[in-house]
Amino acid sequence: SFLSKTLICASLALLGSQAAMADTLKIGTEGGYPPWSMVDAAGKVTGFDADIGAALCKELNSDCKFIVQAFDSLIPSLDAKRFDLIISGMSYTPERAKRVNFSIPYAVEDAIFVLPKNSELIGADNEQTIFDGLAGKTIGVQGGTTHGAFLAKKAPKTTVKNYETLDQMQIDLDAGRLNGTFADLTSQSKFLHKVGEQNFALSKLVIKGSSDPETLGYGIAVGIHKDNAELKAKVDAALCKLIDDGTVKTASEKWFDI
Ligand code: ARG
Repeated sequence: SFLSKTLICASLALLGSQAAMADTLKIGTEGGYPPWSMVDAAGKVTGFDADIGAALCKELNSDCKFIVQAFDSLIPSLDAKRFDLIISGMSYTPERAKRVNFSIPYAVEDAIFVLPKNSELIGADNEQTIFDGLAGKTIGVQGGTTHGAFLAKKAPKTTVKNYETLDQMQIDLDAGRLNGTFADLTSQSKFLHKVGEQNFALSKLVIKGSSDPETLGYGIAVGIHKDNAELKAKVDAALCKLIDDGTVKTASEKWFDI
């Protein structure tokens, strides 16, 4: 199932979310990572993270304002208090947790490769076969993500090329400058539709999120400034409620085709 069943929310319920909050919660997101966060033609942020953010703001009696910027710059901007929260499909990793407080997870996510359809690695059924096969090859990832860190650790002979946006990555994949891409499973499924199933395919092998928590993290969570313990408590309590009452499940069914 999509959500961790091990969430323990009972103790958080006591904190409630009634207390007065800032009128507007500012939320940093990347906006180019379907189906997590996208910007539509009218400039509105949509996607799973937009729905989670909107539900969270409602629960906390605040208006929501999304601020869109490069994934790589979200943590520095949270540090600088440019916004209150990060909601951007961001995985809770020990490295990031040194700089950011994370909420309880609101999703879990695996990772997968998009490869040229004729790649012999498509059918590989274990991690080492893929990593060995990618030696000397170039794989595209979004800059600052867990996916770059994972490949650097597990496939040190692979060149990892960082892209600020998936659109830039797509141009290089189409032009044959990349031997594949690596990202979250749900994002890669959408990406594959864009690059075209006649030339590319998902690897058979799914890299479980739990396969290397040090780099891939412990699920997707909301980022909160280290200084704001009170906001973290409120966000956790609100997420517990939204998980309990089915709001998170409804949003995941809407965006993840499950
Ligand atoms: N889950 C991955 C990470 O935390 C990728 C997230 C990318 N998110 C985005 N909105 N572009 O690094």
